[in-house]
Amino acid sequence: MTIQEVFNLHKGDLQRMEFQLKDNLRSSVPLTFEMGDYLISGGGKRLRPLLLMLSARLSGYSGGNETLLCTIVEFIHMASLLHDDVIDAATVRRGKTSANAIWGNKASILVGDYLSSKALHMAVQLKDPRITATLAEIITLMSEGELLQLLSTGDVDVTEERYLNIIRHKTAILISGACRLGGLLGNASDAQVQALADYGMQIGLAFQIADDALDYCAVEQNLGKSLGKDLSEGKITLPLIHLLSSCNETENSQVREIIYADSPSESELRYILDLMNRYRSIEYALGRAKEIAESGTRALSVFNSSPELESFYAVAGYVVEREL
Ligand code: IPE
Ligand code: IPE
Ligand code: MG
Ligand code: MG
Repeated sequence: MTIQEVFNLHKGDLQRMEFQLKDNLRSSVPLTFEMGDYLISGGGKRLRPLLLMLSARLSGYSGGNETLLCTIVEFIHMASLLHDDVIDAATVRRGKTSANAIWGNKASILVGDYLSSKALHMAVQLKDPRITATLAEIITLMSEGELLQLLSTGDVDVTEERYLNIIRHKTAILISGACRLGGLLGNASDAQVQALADYGMQIGLAFQIADDALDYCAVEQNLGKSLGKDLSEGKITLPLIHLLSSCNETENSQVREIIYADSPSESELRYILDLMNRYRSIEYALGRAKEIAESGTRALSVFNSSPELESFYAVAGYVVEREL
């Protein structure tokens, strides 16, 4: 099964979420709608809602609340993107000028805050303390993730382990949470909910590792974001960690100097890319992503094989092979 087929199977469900996304952006301040709608219309893969839906279906749920919960999870994601683009001083998001570049940092922070509090507020109507607690925990841990990353900026001694801890918080927690929430909706057994959460965690790690590899090797137009951004931000990601630990001493000190410099020039980025090519750093990162995603699929062995399970395998393949 291809990822496109998986998305197509849930087209109707996701369409319903799109309506709810827009509907829930309305507040007494029109800017929430204006900015929210702008971000929504940029597209976005809707991976987290898809996983929530798949997890709900795998757990036998079709009660109708999954649409609301998908909206909530996508709001939390949108809030994190608004904040992230301020922190990273990004200018492009989802192939368009980023919200911070249009409305400014202050508006982005405030609308980001609005969206994550709105998400929690919306969850109250589900009257399920397990769901509200899961969402509150997700938001807390994600904030820790961005903070951990901020504190590691430019630190060339970041190890793979520390890097994994950062991306676990900033990215995988929400993806894992989406899977957990689907299981909770369907009243899956504790072991099954845990399996879904474990799968989501590994898929989330693999997704971010692939994202960090794409930052060095994607076709910019496909990605909808600027390339080489992590390096200029002093973000030490897996391809760079691998390069620093594989290259010789002279190269190592040159790479460090480029990282320490304010903003690398074209030729410095080229130099790093050539070294990454020579030491196969992108291959290494993508190889790790593949291993981790595969370990995610093994977590699902508590479920009997079914057509629904095939979708989870397709997502696991996709997060590593994606070009956008
Ligand atoms: C972007 O997430 C932030 C990362 C975790 C890399 P996505 O790549 O899922 O963003 P959209 O929603 O598709 O734009
Ligand atoms: C992902 O971080 C954003 C969040 C998880 C909040 P990055 O900064 O690495 O992602 P992009 O490249 O901006 O999408
Ligand atoms: Mg960013
Ligand atoms: Mg990135």
